[in-house]
This record gives sequence, structure tokens and C-alpha cells, in this order.
Amino acid sequence: MATAEVDRLASYKAEDVIASRSSRDVLARTAMYVALAAAWVATCGSLYMSEVLGWIPCLWCWYQRIAMYPLAVILAAGLVLRDRNLPKYALCLAIPGTLASVYHILLQKVPAFARFESCVIGVPCAADYLNLFGFITIPMLAFTAFAIVIIACVIALGLREPVGKNYLAQGPIAMLPPAMSVGLIVAAIVALFTLSGVMTRSRQAAPSIATSATAASLPVGASREAAAALYTQACAGCHGPANAGMQLIRAEYLRQRSDLEVIALIRAGRSATAPENFSGVAMPANGGQIGISDEQLAALVRYLREVRGN
Ligand code: HEC
Repeated sequence: MATAEVDRLASYKAEDVIASRSSRDVLARTAMYVALAAAWVATCGSLYMSEVLGWIPCLWCWYQRIAMYPLAVILAAGLVLRDRNLPKYALCLAIPGTLASVYHILLQKVPAFARFESCVIGVPCAADYLNLFGFITIPMLAFTAFAIVIIACVIALGLREPVGKNYLAQGPIAMLPPAMSVGLIVAAIVALFTLSGVMTRSRQAAPSIATSATAASLPVGASREAAAALYTQACAGCHGPANAGMQLIRAEYLRQRSDLEVIALIRAGRSATAPENFSGVAMPANGGQIGISDEQLAALVRYLREVRGN
């Protein structure tokens, strides 16, 4: 054995480096790799939805991200460092993450919960970007990933041999020298965030006015492009990107109202307790913007009608 390798091994306690081949330990180890895969799929999926598809995360999405993103890192690092206690660390994040997902699902699916809606500013938590078959929503996917991590951790804690060899001292990640694996994890994370940053920039490149100018300096007598840019800047935070269907702006509402009535609504906003409010969430006056002109609002309403098909 090369001297370097001997030195490396000497820096570990004997039970850390001797891989266990007991079938209980193999199952415990496999469970932790499944947890790792679930956390990475969820993290990449979440970044794909926000950075590539442009779905702006709501408050409760953020709470779930706060639990999920570190899980992806901790699970990888714990496997690299062969830390027997990895499942315990992972549970510290996965349990609160699951609770946040459950609460978010209740907000979306149980009307009574909409009263506790905490997203007063920003994207309404109860709005669904994704709703396949009526039950597969984003928090439902997050819940599934957290649940997989929790079940995997419980399996690992229950099955691993209590003493003796280390159940994590084998497996694809533990094969590499720790320093190299930590470097690879760091590189993977930097690459992931760089990639998602590039995606965001390329997606925002089209309506460039939206990112640089304030509403007040948009051209008056506004063109369709200016209206689309204003929408992205002032409305998309809550109503979602135009190409995602403009949630909470009902097609039939636009059909039944004149341009002036829609403009008046945008000017005044709609309180959460207004009789016509249907979501339980407030819309701030002027969408929270100052200095939007009537011409801009007229172009904006034409744009809403065009996108919503009436
Ligand atoms: C802070 C979040 C927020 C912003 C920003 C915002 N809205 Fe709204 N808007 C809402 C909510 C919430 C509703 C739904 C209120 C309800 O349930 O009646 C709504 C409702 C509407 C409606 C009525 C839809 C209907 O079906 O009754 C229109 C039209 C509308 N918004 C246009 C806009 C435009 C245009 C902008 C940008 C200038 C904008 N909103 C900015 C939150 C927002």
C-alpha cells in the first residue's frame, strides 16, 4: 500500500475505515444514498421551476427551500466524511421541512386554512403553479422528498449495527479521499448556482426595461412590449409570469368588465375582506407601485386581455 494511503487511513479510527458488509449495514447505507438522491432531485427541481420556468417562490416555498437545500449538501458531506450520525443531522432539517410542506398543502387545499395565509406581500401561498390531477402540487412534491429522507434516516438508524464497523465506510462517495470529495461537492454546488444564475439572466433578457427602469420611467402611451415589461416588473411577483397563465386574474373577470373598470380595480387594489375578493388575499393599490400612468394601465389591460384570451 502506498505511504500516502497508509497515512490517510491512519488518520481514521479503525472502525471508521473498515467497511461493514453485514446486510443490515448495506441496507442502512443504501437508504442514505436514496435520501441523497431525493434531496438532490428536489433541489434541482426547485431551482428549475424558479430559475428556468420563472415561477416565483412564495413564502412557504422559501421555508421548504431553507430545509431542502442544506439537506442536499449535508447528506453528501456526511457520506463523504462517513459520519455515522448523518441520519440525525438530516432529520433536524427534514422534519421541519415536512411540517412546512404539510402546512403549505393545507393552505392550498383546505379553504379554511386560507385565513391563516401569511403571504400578504409577494406571491400568494395558496396559488398553484403546478396542479397535476388535482393533487400533485409543488409542496406535495417537496413533502414526498422530505418523507423519503425521513423514512431513509429512520431505516438507517434502525438497521445500522450499533457497534463495530462503520456502515457508511463504503459506497460510491466514500471511495474517494474525503478532501477530493468535498472539493467535488463544492464544485457541484457552485456549478448548480452558476447555471441557475445564467438561466435567470437569459430568461430576463427579453423584457429588459423591467429589470432596469422603474414604472415611472416607462414610455407613456405604452407599447405592448412596455406593457409586458411593466407586467413582469409590477404584477408577476404575485400573478406569476405571463407565460404561466396569470394566476388569480380570471379570464371571466376580464370578459365581464370594461377597460375602465379593470383600470379602476388595479388603481384601488382589492382588500382581503372586499365582498368580491375570491382568494382571501389582498391586492395592493396599483399593485404596490407608484407612478403608473393611465396610458400604461390602458396598455397593461390590453395586454392582460391578450394573454388571458379576451
Ligand atoms: C402583492 C401581490 C399583487 C400584486 C403585486 C398585483 N396583484 Fe393583482 N391581485 C392580487 C391578488 C391576491 C388578487 C386576487 C384578489 C381576490 O381574490 O379577489 C389580485 C387580483 C387582480 C385582478 C382581478 C382578477 C379577478 O379575477 O378578479 C386583476 C385584474 C389584477 N389583480 C391585476 C393586477 C395587475 C395588472 C398588477 C400589476 C400592476 C397586479 N395585479 C399586481 C395580488 C397582486
